[in-house]
Amino acid sequence: MSVECFVTGGSGFVGQHLLARLTATGYKTWVLMRTPGNLERLRKQVHQLGGDPAYIHAVEGDISREGFGLSESDKQCLSTAAVIFHLAAEFTWGLSMERARAVNVQGALRAAKLAASQRIRLLMVGGFMLQNLDHLAGIGVDHECPENTHWPDVYRRVGGYEGSKIESHFAVIRYMQDVGADYAIVHPATVCGHSESGHILEGQPLVELIRNLAHGRFKAVPGSPRHWLPIVSVDYLVAMMTCVAFDPSMANRQVLALYEHTMSLQGMLEQIAKPLEIKAPRQHVPIRLLRWLLMIPGLARRFAISAESLDFIQTQRFDRSSSEQLERKYQLKHPDMARTLEKTVRYVRDHFLP
Ligand SMILES: NC(=O)c1ccc[n+]([C@@H]2O[C@H](COP(=O)([O-])OP(=O)(O)OC[C@H]3O[C@@H](n4cnc5c(N)ncnc54)[C@H](OP(=O)(O)O)[C@@H]3O)[C@@H](O)[C@H]2O)c1
Repeated sequence: MSVECFVTGGSGFVGQHLLARLTATGYKTWVLMRTPGNLERLRKQVHQLGGDPAYIHAVEGDISREGFGLSESDKQCLSTAAVIFHLAAEFTWGLSMERARAVNVQGALRAAKLAASQRIRLLMVGGFMLQNLDHLAGIGVDHECPENTHWPDVYRRVGGYEGSKIESHFAVIRYMQDVGADYAIVHPATVCGHSESGHILEGQPLVELIRNLAHGRFKAVPGSPRHWLPIVSVDYLVAMMTCVAFDPSMANRQVLALYEHTMSLQGMLEQIAKPLEIKAPRQHVPIRLLRWLLMIPGLARRFAISAESLDFIQTQRFDRSSSEQLERKYQLKHPDMARTLEKTVRYVRDHFLP
């Protein structure tokens, strides 16, 4: 019998590439869709990314609804799935705490409950900042005893999206440990386009960064020459996710998907500027000052920068020993990231910049 998977967030950027990989491998895949009428469009997109559309099936649901709002017959379809890949999230700046909790935190807990009730693995997608313990401590998260965290303060500091990613991470681990269920977590850096095609979707943080540079909104490089924005290619990320999802030794473990040789933000902006035939800024502006400036009414909109996005620009270096182990085991390799970034910039220029 072929392997079956259930994917939430399959219509999103990472989700489409994950579906391409799973279906190209011959895995029958059920996708949670708020609008199942978009299934044919999704199948075409996944086909263009190298997947097999015949293996993609939709179930109607919404992660903000109890039990995802699944019908009894759809629940039956999912009962043969071997893994739940939970990617769905409201991924946007400026989310209210209430909305972020209702969708991202409760949604992740619902995915956890479903996986636990079916006794299958939950593959969660977190974010690399969850592995930055200094950052977590700095924003008031007690990572050793998360129940001591005052979450409204955390949301106030980092905004709805990041606050809910952090809260959902600890809530899911707690729940899965309490019920003795199986989970594994992959923490991606900021996701870059595909290493061959440069394919990326509108709305991704990297697209916004490229657009802001193209439109001359970067007057200075945020942070110091040591600051960086770690990236990972979407193809490496989904390859790692599939390895982790089916590897018994990854039960209840977490791993980073991050290219540790990502250059400094200044170097990255210079690299992005080349195919756009523009000049990158050379001066630096301290993040604290920039954050303060963005509080001036109208300035954040004028520069199209959200203070929330600045948290991801940092100086921290990460322990990648678990990622390296997996890379050795599965012969996983990061693609040439300078070339991948260049392809992504060209893709953005050709598809999203007027
Ligand atoms: N991209 C990055 O740089 C990055 C970095 C670190 C972590 N991550 C994490 O990776 C995951 C995937 O990110 P992405 O970039 O692929 O996001 P994305 O392109 O914004 O896609 C989000 C997906 O979530 C679905 N979704 C949103 N609200 C939903 C709801 N209420 N019910 C059901 N589905 C819902 C969307 O479905 P619709 O088509 O219906 O809108 C879409 O399929 C997220 O958990 C994100 O936090 C991403």
